[in-house]
Amino acid sequence: MNFEKKLEEVKAIAIARFNKSMNIELGAESIHGLEHWKKVEQNAILLSKQNGVDEEVVRLFAYLHDCRRQHDFEDLEHGYRASKFVIKLYKIGILSFLSDDRVKKLAEACEHHNTGDVRELDPTIGACYDADRIELIRFGITPEPIFMSTEMGKWIAEKIKENEYNNVSFLRVNQ
Ligand SMILES: [Fe+2]
Repeated sequence: MNFEKKLEEVKAIAIARFNKSMNIELGAESIHGLEHWKKVEQNAILLSKQNGVDEEVVRLFAYLHDCRRQHDFEDLEHGYRASKFVIKLYKIGILSFLSDDRVKKLAEACEHHNTGDVRELDPTIGACYDADRIELIRFGITPEPIFMSTEMGKWIAEKIKENEYNNVSFLRVNQ
């Protein structure tokens, strides 16, 4: 199984599903669309340098967590819908390379990513939340270290808060 190829497949499915729900041609137009997902993936790669973080799960989360949004406003059910979508992709074989345990983590991270959950116990789910929360900066919101789930996530939030960096793009790889 070539993960990069699989990720491309998942990405294409997520974009198509997102565009359909949002009723737009290009997900890139949305503040919760492809451009956002790419940044979440870059954060995911960085946060996955931490012990116990499953990088593939966090990178999949980047492209799936918002793909069932129906609009750019408050859409409280989108995390739940994304978790159902993950299970569906697993059942139809798209995510069959994941073990039950990994698919459960991915679905759980999607389901709760927008509920303010902080998950210090599971590094993979925590890294998913942090990868997304760092991107609050696109709304001019500084992520609070206390609401980050991993050590590196807290560190990045501290740096943003201290205004030590204007943005965190320097931290990202493969820009
Ligand atoms: Fe997001």
